[in-house]
Amino acid sequence: MSQRNQTLGEFIIENQSSFKYTSGELSRLINSIRLAAKVVNHEVNKAGLVDIIGTAGDTNIQGEDQQKLDVYANDTFIKTMTKRNIVCGIASEEEDDFVAINSQDENHQNKYVVLIDPLDGSSNIDVNVSVGTIFSIYRRVTPVGTPVTIKDFLQKGNQQVAAGYVVYGTSTMLVYTTGHGVNGFTLNPAIGTFYLSHPNMQFPENGSIYSVNEGNYIHFPKGIKDYIKYCQMEEGDRPYTSRYIGSLVSDFHRNMIKGGIYMYPKSSMNAKGKLRLLYECNPMAFLAEQANGKASDGFTRIMDIEPTELHERVPFICGSKNMVEKAEEFMQNA
Ligand code: AHG
Ligand code: MN
Ligand code: MN
Repeated sequence: MSQRNQTLGEFIIENQSSFKYTSGELSRLINSIRLAAKVVNHEVNKAGLVDIIGTAGDTNIQGEDQQKLDVYANDTFIKTMTKRNIVCGIASEEEDDFVAINSQDENHQNKYVVLIDPLDGSSNIDVNVSVGTIFSIYRRVTPVGTPVTIKDFLQKGNQQVAAGYVVYGTSTMLVYTTGHGVNGFTLNPAIGTFYLSHPNMQFPENGSIYSVNEGNYIHFPKGIKDYIKYCQMEEGDRPYTSRYIGSLVSDFHRNMIKGGIYMYPKSSMNAKGKLRLLYECNPMAFLAEQANGKASDGFTRIMDIEPTELHERVPFICGSKNMVEKAEEFMQNA
C-alpha cells in the first residue's frame, strides 16, 4: 500500500493515551469540533452563491454587527457539541452569557467547557478573504453533576487543556494543541477528511513580518509606535514586511509558518484593545507557546492574566519569540 498522511481521526486515537485523564471525552470533543468545522466550511464556501453574506440585523453583546455567517457558525458549533452531549458548558463570543448543558444532572459526568469565537474575521467574508474559528478547552473547576458556574469559564489561559483554530482559507485547515506541540491538518474537500499536513508546527525564533492595523497608529501607545518605527528602520535584517489581513486566525497562521509578529495594542479609542482574552488571545497564546512562540500584553504573559469577565478584552502581542521580546522591550521602556 502506498504511504498516505495520517487522518485527524487516526491521530486523535493514536494520541489519546497521552492525556492525563483518558476517558476519551476530550477525543470525542475534538471529533465534534472537526465535524462542526466541516459543516461551517461547506457553508463558508457557498458565500456569494446563496443569501448568507451580509449582516443578520442584530448586534452581539459587544455591540458589533452580527454577520449571517457569525450566527450560522455559532449555532453549528453549539448544536454539534450539545447534541453529542460531551461538554458541560459553552461560552461564545456571540452569546451574552455562557450556556450550561445538562451540567446539573448527576448522570452527566462531562468535565469540559469550551470557549469559542465561531467566526473570526467575519467582516472579511463578503470579500472572499479567509476567516476562521478559534476554540479553547478547560476542565471545569466545580464538581461534576452540579450546574456549571462562571468560575468554570473564568480560568487563566495556563489552565487550558486544548486549543486550536480552523482557517477557512485557500485550503481549510484545523490546527490544534493538547499541550504536546501543535499539529495542522488540511481538509481534502473531495472526501471530507482532514489529513496531517503540518506536523509539529513551530514559529521561527526570528521573523520579518509585522502585522498591525497601522490605520490606528496615532492612537497607539508610545512603545508600540516606537516598535513600528523600529520594524521600518533600515538596519540589519530590517525593514520588515508589513502584512495585515484583518483576520487574526489568518494573520497568526501565516506568521507561525513564515516568522512574524501580530499586534492589537490598546489605543486611545479602546483602552483594553479589541481582542477578547477568553475567545481569541488565550487560545492563540497557548498555540504560540506550544509552537515555540510567545504572547503577551506588552508586560505580562497572556496566559497568566486573571480573567474577570467573559467578554473581556486585552492588548495582544503574539508571534516569533525574539520579535515579541523586542516589542515588550519597547513597551517597557516607553
Ligand atoms: P471577529 O470577526 O471575531 O469580531 O474578530 C475580528 C478581529 C480579528 O480577527 C482581527 O484581527 C481584528 O478583529 C481586526 O480588527 P481591525 O479591523 O480593527 O483591524
Ligand atoms: Mn475574532
Ligand atoms: Mn467572531
